[in-house]
Amino acid sequence: MAQSGAPIGILGSGTAAQKLGRGFLEHGWFGEVLVLSVRGSAAEDVVRLAGAEPFDGKVLLDASDPLDFSSGRPGLFVGTNDSLGERIQRLVSRAHVVKGLNIVAADVMVDPTLTGGGPRHVHRRR
Ligand SMILES: NC(=O)c1ccc[n+]([C@@H]2O[C@H](COP(=O)([O-])OP(=O)(O)OC[C@H]3O[C@@H](n4cnc5c(N)ncnc54)[C@H](OP(=O)(O)O)[C@@H]3O)[C@@H](O)[C@H]2O)c1
Repeated sequence: MAQSGAPIGILGSGTAAQKLGRGFLEHGWFGEVLVLSVRGSAAEDVVRLAGAEPFDGKVLLDASDPLDFSSGRPGLFVGTNDSLGERIQRLVSRAHVVKGLNIVAADVMVDPTLTGGGPRHVHRRR
């Protein structure tokens, strides 16, 4: 776990961004990490507006979902042969985009308490 004292940058200020921001603070987690947590349909524009340079060499945790409700049912505006994470990676080619946390509710993004037990921890073999 990186604890270099470098700040964490969060693009977004909504439910998920606040949950993650609080979690980072509570766990004293700092490092060269950026988080993208905005409405999926705005994610590419937000990154374009920021410009590619601030992302250079950084880990970008992309928690946004490419959801499209315009038909009245949930769909994916990226279709089935692309992904929002890959689109973001193409915009910031010198960053390391990690898609994560986007398929869990904000309430269980940090220290989840689940009726079926907590998340399983996978330990890497040395
Ligand atoms: N909440 C969850 O449980 C959850 C779980 C997994 C994944 N996610 C994903 O995480 C992302 C954020 O979800 P959320 O629940 O935190 O949403 P939210 O509370 O509605 O917040 C949305 C964020 O996106 C920004 N935003 C919306 N439209 C924008 C635009 N056109 N240009 C720039 N910024 C814009 C908002 O900024 P303003 O407030 O300034 O409009 C706000 O910071 C979404 O992609 C969502 O699918 C959410």
